[in-house]
Amino acid sequence: MPSDIARNRVEIMHGVNLDQLGRRDPGHYGTLTLTALELQISEHAAELGLTTRFFQSNHEGAFVEHLHGLEDLADAIVLNPGAWTHYSYAIRDALEIAQLPAIEVHLSDVDAREPFRRHSVLEGLCAGRVTGRGADGYRDALVMLKEELSS
Ligand code: DQA
Repeated sequence: MPSDIARNRVEIMHGVNLDQLGRRDPGHYGTLTLTALELQISEHAAELGLTTRFFQSNHEGAFVEHLHGLEDLADAIVLNPGAWTHYSYAIRDALEIAQLPAIEVHLSDVDAREPFRRHSVLEGLCAGRVTGRGADGYRDALVMLKEELSS
């Protein structure tokens, strides 16, 4: 990739049930709706000189196909696949196909919850992982990607 081409396009992808933020347990997920969270993420991204596009689906195949279509549209991915994180090898394979730097984010502290949440099928594929930092975790992920894209 020539160094004079800016790589600053970050795709923010939310999976199953994350459209229900605002109705989910605030102790784990906070009180922001997905729309409010996305606004906050876009503001943080702009401060870092990154541009954002947002995608959410409750359909695993739609999530997979969105990953397939990212070539030429995004330079990096922030993804919170929700419960799919713990068992969807289809999403793991699609992320591998996308061949883009990615950071996995979870609003809640998945390692301190039920045992099934401790396992991520994305292990080894992402440049970083942020858990339990609520909405601020997305800012951390963007900072990581900014570094990754500038290197
Ligand atoms: C989540 C954690 C998952 O275990 C859960 O299924 C979600 C949200 C999080 O952001 O903390 O839906 O990904």
